[in-house]
Amino acid sequence: MNRRIGFLALAILMAISVAGVSAMGGKEGGELVIGANIYSFADNFMNGVMKPELERYAAGKGVRIEIVDSEGQQAKLNDQVDVFITKKVSVLAINLVDPASAKAIIAKAKKAGIPLILFNKEPTEAGAMASYDKVWYVGTNSAESGIIQGQMMVADWKANPAWDKNKDGVVQYVLLKGEPGHPDAEARTRESVKAFVDAGIKVQQLALEADPNWSTQHGNDKMAAWLTSSFGKSIELVICNNDGMAFGAINALKAAGVKLPLYGVDALDQALTHIADGEMNGTVLNDGVNQSRATVDLAINAAMGKPVTEGTAWKLDTDGTKAVRIPYLPVTPKNYKEFRK
Ligand code: GAL
Ligand code: CA
Repeated sequence: MNRRIGFLALAILMAISVAGVSAMGGKEGGELVIGANIYSFADNFMNGVMKPELERYAAGKGVRIEIVDSEGQQAKLNDQVDVFITKKVSVLAINLVDPASAKAIIAKAKKAGIPLILFNKEPTEAGAMASYDKVWYVGTNSAESGIIQGQMMVADWKANPAWDKNKDGVVQYVLLKGEPGHPDAEARTRESVKAFVDAGIKVQQLALEADPNWSTQHGNDKMAAWLTSSFGKSIELVICNNDGMAFGAINALKAAGVKLPLYGVDALDQALTHIADGEMNGTVLNDGVNQSRATVDLAINAAMGKPVTEGTAWKLDTDGTKAVRIPYLPVTPKNYKEFRK
């Protein structure tokens, strides 16, 4: 080989290996790739907040993230995980479709020796998290969102005696629940209502509807049906376990020319606008930006065989659940401007 070509080849090889090391964060033999999914791209919060931040933050860290849409089907997600494993991704970041189907996914990752970060839907099967030493969870403390929403509602109820339309001292409420069996939906349903009971205020549930998709369409349809039902005129409070469903309920209320106190969870941009317009009384920040960042940080560390929170500000729970939990925050007509981007 002529000396100049030999030198050039060597220089190119060196450049490739240097670029390779920085792009893949030190993993030899290729760039660091995160194989990820969102349980449904139709979900306002997951698609509108978490997906863009997962992509933006991973890009900033010089790693590749591939995010697929599981379209609300656990069977589809199982297949997508198989494909990621065949492609030899460095690490998996998985948003379960069915929170009760974590074990199958964990077993796949374990068999392939690939670390796994679960996010947003906490596994509900006993022993799931303990079944693999390289699985972690990033999410929230579900109950906290219901407690915060409940406290906001209790304070507002006390401050607005006119909300008790029939003056019976009882809160006649309707509730849009979200996905049955989802830890967030279950805890929010329980805790928000419990806040009234704990404050010594009686409650009466007029209706409750679940929706696996947490969707605006569902919120609209259910609220419209409730308003024209036999108890329609008795409704005094609308509790929504997420903003997506709240937006639908607001549409239905507007269409019927009815104004009712209404609360959500997530603090999406549109919710802040509804609060500004007086169409929503409060929401709870579900900090998807930090949940996304923690997911990527843990994924990178896990792929590199490092302790997952090393070099980050995230803390693993001390209860043995191997979880990073990002706090919720109350968003009210008084403070919503602080949450505008
Ligand atoms: C919740 C969120 C909902 C929905 C759900 C999906 O944390 O509040 O809006 O996105 O996750 O699992
Ligand atoms: Ca009443």
